[in-house]
Amino acid sequence: MTSILFSVFNHPLCDSLAKELESERGELTHHFFPDGESCIQIHSEVKGKKVILVDSLDKVNQKIMPLILASETLRELGANDIILCSPYLAYMRQDKAFQPGQGISARYFAKLISTYFDGLITIDPHLHRIKNLKEVYTIPAKTLHAGEAIANWIKDNIKEPLLIGPDSESRQWVEAIAKTIEAPFMVLEKIRRGDKDVEIKVPNLKDYQQKQIILVDDIISSAGTMIEVVKAIHKSSNLSPLCIAVHALFSKESFNALQAENPLQL
Ligand code: R5P
Repeated sequence: MTSILFSVFNHPLCDSLAKELESERGELTHHFFPDGESCIQIHSEVKGKKVILVDSLDKVNQKIMPLILASETLRELGANDIILCSPYLAYMRQDKAFQPGQGISARYFAKLISTYFDGLITIDPHLHRIKNLKEVYTIPAKTLHAGEAIANWIKDNIKEPLLIGPDSESRQWVEAIAKTIEAPFMVLEKIRRGDKDVEIKVPNLKDYQQKQIILVDDIISSAGTMIEVVKAIHKSSNLSPLCIAVHALFSKESFNALQAENPLQL
């Protein structure tokens, strides 16, 4: 089946994937009505084709409706199979009701995506209490991993790395990367009290003065987690950690806040 790739929000991956797959790059326009509602218009022939819609699901509340409109329009125009290729998969962290009265958004979001798309491709979704996307997604969902690329980058650029995961949920990434490059690693304990209120116990790092500390997590959102670890490391040593995340969402002023705490050195 012929493939054609579209992106509602002009994700740069769409062009490179189309090139790599030697597939057509489809044209669409996204019009906003004065009241903020969207209208998607498809300009390429899609009848009988497999469509890959490439857009990441950061800022998901803004993006989801236009993506659903795109998917339904493509289907109406005869597209055969509509695959959402989203490097970041939203809503996976609310995988249980943390407080009485809350819902399990990961499940509801999976139901929504499974309704409007025929397949999903994503990178390192936040799998914790949900162990596999199959538990909540009813469409074929393929998970790709960034670990190898991160491991190769560290190997090529850092002489004496010490990898640190800020919380138990980061273990899966930190451990796999550390093992690949045969580097030491540790995983810290985090207590989250609110969106930006986290407490993380950082051990004394005096025995690691020769190392380049690398903090590895799957997501940076408010950057509160990274900032907390960086602050604690700065308190007990003159080490300057490097922060790596698979999905650097950086809400609002969080990039500047992290940068102020730990100026970029590379
Ligand atoms: C949490 O479970 C994730 O692995 C990240 O640690 C978290 O999303 C980071 O969020 P923030 O940057 O807001 O501290």
